[in-house]
Amino acid sequence: MVEWFSSVIGMSMGYFRKNIEKVKGYEPGFQPKETDVIKLNTNENPYPPSPQVLKVLTEISAEQLRRYPDPIGNEFRQAAAELHDLSPENIMCCNGGDDLLTIACRAFCDESRPLAYPVPTYSLYPVLAKLQNCNAIEVPFDDEFNLPAKLVSTNAALTIICNPNAPNGSFISIDELASLADELSGVLLIDEAYVDFAEANCTGLVKKFDNVIILRSMSKGYSLAGIRFGYAIAQPDLIAGLIKVKDSYNVDAVAVTVATAAIKDQKYFSETTEKVKKARGLLVEQLRDLGFEVPESCANFVLAKSKNYKASKIYDKLLERRIYVRYFNLPGLNNKLRISVGTSEQNDKLISALKEILSE
Ligand SMILES: Cc1ncc(COP(=O)(O)O)c(C=O)c1O
Repeated sequence: MVEWFSSVIGMSMGYFRKNIEKVKGYEPGFQPKETDVIKLNTNENPYPPSPQVLKVLTEISAEQLRRYPDPIGNEFRQAAAELHDLSPENIMCCNGGDDLLTIACRAFCDESRPLAYPVPTYSLYPVLAKLQNCNAIEVPFDDEFNLPAKLVSTNAALTIICNPNAPNGSFISIDELASLADELSGVLLIDEAYVDFAEANCTGLVKKFDNVIILRSMSKGYSLAGIRFGYAIAQPDLIAGLIKVKDSYNVDAVAVTVATAAIKDQKYFSETTEKVKKARGLLVEQLRDLGFEVPESCANFVLAKSKNYKASKIYDKLLERRIYVRYFNLPGLNNKLRISVGTSEQNDKLISALKEILSE
């Protein structure tokens, strides 16, 4: 377990609210210090960010650092609005997509206003519910990861659908999510952290529904996980409400400059995301050839089910070879490995290692 993490989860001091004392906290994927490893465990983009990003970083001035940043990151809002054919009032900048999830839970949920989401999904949602002390209504997906019909009748104040879903990469159609938005009495947040690797997205729903929030992350498609930047897309009234809840300066001057340069370089974005999508197709084929069950994925990771070998064992043996993938010791997932799509070279090394391991 991550060193700092194990030191904080044991805490029980009596000073905190009861729900905080009880919550285990989100467990992030391991971040090895070494750089000469094959790191396919936290769904980072294997390619560097746009050269434009590195250029603007070198041009950051002392004056930009001395002053407080624009509290709502208007430069980025303008660029994102142009890309999505919306207005800046439809956009709120956040300190990574995770910041938006926290803001939304604080804005919509409390003891009498539940959060709902289908499971299995992103493991941060239940943690946020516990921190907010709201009821988390977990509605199980079926084996094909179809949208559960029961989600309509939960009466949740906030429903989150991760699309493409983590950790399996399945995609729910825009039409189905439009019907859900129409039927829900509360807010529908569509977590599109991985949508840059899919063939469609739900941004268009924002024009039709006043209860839809789209979450976008700059961590995956734009290779900016280290800078922490994401954004919300919604109708202006929802955005204005969310801005009331966010930290006063939730995005810093460097992050706004860098994220703006990245989102403006759509040519580089398309080239790198296409490379990841192509590598994903090959990786799925190669894993299936090795006997893994791998569903089609619309994200930059795949979920591989091992039929004859314990997934935890494969995980350990990959680790011995300095190859990091993600293993979740959770019901329904403990016979699977989530593998981020790397460069072709990284994926080839993974496949060679798996061949060796499976023949031992
Ligand atoms: C499903 C999902 N949503 C949102 C996020 C948040 O991403 P970030 O805070 O890096 O933008 C993640 C990060 O891994 C994720 O997996």
